[in-house]
Amino acid sequence: MKKIVALPGDGIGPEIMDAGIQVLNQLTPKYGLDYKIERYDFGGCAIDSTGTPLPKTTLKACQEADAILLGAIGGPKWSNAPKRPEQGLLELRKNLGLFANIRPVKISKSLEALSPLKSERIRGVDFIIVRELTGGIYFGEPRELKKERALDTCLYTRSEIQRIMRQAFNIARTRKKKVTSVDKANVLATSKLWREVAEEVAKEFPDVKLEHQLVDSAAMLLIQNPKQFDVIVTENLFGDILSDEASVIPGTLGVLPSASHSEKNSSLYEPIHGSAPDIAGKNSANPLSMIFSISMMLRESFKEYSAAEELEAACERVIEKGYTTKDLGGKTTTTEFVQALIEELK
Ligand code: NAD
Ligand code: IPM
Ligand code: MN
Repeated sequence: MKKIVALPGDGIGPEIMDAGIQVLNQLTPKYGLDYKIERYDFGGCAIDSTGTPLPKTTLKACQEADAILLGAIGGPKWSNAPKRPEQGLLELRKNLGLFANIRPVKISKSLEALSPLKSERIRGVDFIIVRELTGGIYFGEPRELKKERALDTCLYTRSEIQRIMRQAFNIARTRKKKVTSVDKANVLATSKLWREVAEEVAKEFPDVKLEHQLVDSAAMLLIQNPKQFDVIVTENLFGDILSDEASVIPGTLGVLPSASHSEKNSSLYEPIHGSAPDIAGKNSANPLSMIFSISMMLRESFKEYSAAEELEAACERVIEKGYTTKDLGGKTTTTEFVQALIEELK
């Protein structure tokens, strides 16, 4: 039996986690996937219950899991906590070695019609942001915060860049065979090394085309002509920013999932968005980000390709029938959406 650890977290996290698990439980019996789901406190709710965002029991459960699902963490309540929920998330990623964060952006027909961007600009958009997740300015030492001075360190080693590059090139090999490496090599030392290693790794993949793009112009091109991208590989902070920007293509963060992979531990699946304190508790969160994250789990951790396909096709039909949450311009509540999807899967 597979063990799935669920970390609902804070804000809309528990709302979309409940939604996702209900849908998973409706979908899987006919595929014979045998699993149990165990929930653990993580983030702000873990600070409230144990005093720390990543309790030892939660970390241990994640280390022993076959797959991990995360809702979202954080919120104003814990902004001044000695250790914030976000710090717990970084510790979890570092502890599990989740260096490769895969953030797909794909526009289906039903989403195309709802986008704030013109249809012809986004029709057929299908790219993946491969974000390095355990290095760069998020983790570099030294760091300090004093009254008159603050310091962060952006640090990358050659081997950290090599392994994320190989991940990106391997993904590109299964797709349109194009990698866009995004950096700031006109200014940053880490980006100069990044570009050099990208060129080196590209030689191992002669069938894949490599291009470089500076992050500022990449930010512009992502909206101006998003169809040109296949696989975008970039460092931790740039990947964080560009992936939220990419949510303007579907028009909401509420439909974007992610998968994070390591070299030896199980993978973690989570929406790219946060705990959305502005809509928490209102039953209006879009659960698709979580549902698509579950679909990535079915494919990538459990090789349940047909189940994932059925789930995504059912989501598409439900949207086409007019069930859309507020972020997509509709009036459907989270629970109504889940109900409609469950009916569709019956
Ligand atoms: P956010 O991503 O939580 O929200 C940004 C905007 O998108 C809000 O208007 C929100 O309502 C909307 N939104 C996000 N998800 C949605 C969904 N599923 N359906 C409908 N609308 C949705 O970003 P923020 O407000 O800057 O951050 C809130 C908290 O979340 C912060 O504490 C931040 O650190 C944390 N955060 C956590 C994660 C994570 O858990 N992985 C990721 C990002 C931010
Ligand atoms: C994300 C979030 C996190 C990040 C925060 C909450 C630490 O924004 O998962 O994209 O910056 O990685
Ligand atoms: Mn982010």
